[in-house]
Amino acid sequence: MKEVKIESKLSVFDDFNELPPDVAKLMENAIEARHNAYAPYSKFLVGAAILLDNGEVVTGNNQENASYPSGLCAERTAIYYAGAKFPNAKILKMALTAGSQIQTTKTPIPPCGACRQAIAEYEFKQDDPIEIYFMGETGKVVKSDSLANLLPLGFDKSFL
Ligand code: THU
Repeated sequence: MKEVKIESKLSVFDDFNELPPDVAKLMENAIEARHNAYAPYSKFLVGAAILLDNGEVVTGNNQENASYPSGLCAERTAIYYAGAKFPNAKILKMALTAGSQIQTTKTPIPPCGACRQAIAEYEFKQDDPIEIYFMGETGKVVKSDSLANLLPLGFDKSFL
């Protein structure tokens, strides 16, 4: 038996103002999308913005439903729309922001496990890493150079 250590590397920006200009712009798109989220049940609003290699920006937000499991997270709303509208474009960057209507969210909110799996599918498909930036409403912004950092031991089509 031997132990295997898995390491992930993340970068942390002190706040929004430290972001490179193109990422700050993408995060602004995500913030705008967050404000349009439909989250009457959880009151937890999430926005996502995706930059494609054709220059297009696709946004999405969480869409809830009275039948709770029928709702969808912001990340999947955005990435499935990108896949549907621009099937041949590569995803370069993804900016995510989340905030509750009940209290100000100051810590970076990472994508949920199901969304990580969905993003992983596109990273495998395009065979190029997707940069992911995530934050709350204010405060630090975390950057991952690739989805793989957020989902070690991921399941992909090579196992099928
Ligand atoms: N949510 C997202 O949109 N993305 C995530 O990664 C985590 C959770 C949404 C789903 C639901 O509408 C609300 O946040 C509370 O879970």
